[in-house]
Amino acid sequence: MIEGKKNIVIFASGTGSNFVSIYNHIDKGSINAKIALLISNNPNCGAIKFANSNNISTSLIKKDMLKDSSKYQDFLLKEILKVEADLIVLAGFLKIIPKEVIAKYEKKILNIHPSLLPKFGGKGYYGDRVHKAVIESGDDFTGATVHFVNSKYDEGPIVFQKKVKVNFDDDANTISKKVLKIEHEILPFTVKAFCENKISWKDNKPLIIGS
Ligand code: GRF
Repeated sequence: MIEGKKNIVIFASGTGSNFVSIYNHIDKGSINAKIALLISNNPNCGAIKFANSNNISTSLIKKDMLKDSSKYQDFLLKEILKVEADLIVLAGFLKIIPKEVIAKYEKKILNIHPSLLPKFGGKGYYGDRVHKAVIESGDDFTGATVHFVNSKYDEGPIVFQKKVKVNFDDDANTISKKVLKIEHEILPFTVKAFCENKISWKDNKPLIIGS
């Protein structure tokens, strides 16, 4: 049974295609939620532009705020509390989330990562660096991962993964396109499951009921 609408806060710094994929699922009624706020550190990014042209509230993290960790943390907590967020989604957010925010929203923050974690995750693995490392490794498969965020970077409990074949003629660019396509499936799928209370926890591991 689908219960009341969930309030989602999205964090994004870049193009925002994952943010848009969630928005589209909400718009067509397949996810019962509202994007209550987009938080970004980049005033000129695609995500902010999309939010502005689609009537989604935005909140900007100013550069000087990032230099003062307690100011940064208080700002984020205030913004998230203001919209009574049920779920936070990191959709290509390039700054660290303060540990106080992670602690307060335990099991309520999802991140999308463009590899099959735990492979090619952690410090330094972002954007094309991930895909270049996949090619160098000679792995036959790569993919995307949705995981809950904990205090260890890219190491939070994995909810859902999907893989894709790496072909001999792939480069970082072609892999990134294939992986992004998967991201646009598995992130809305997981967000929908969360919004329908279909993620259950056993021994600190999340599982999508029925998947
Ligand atoms: C995606 O590849 C995601 O996995 C990573 O950042 C990228 C964001 O892409 N965390 P977009 O801005 O959603 O297009």
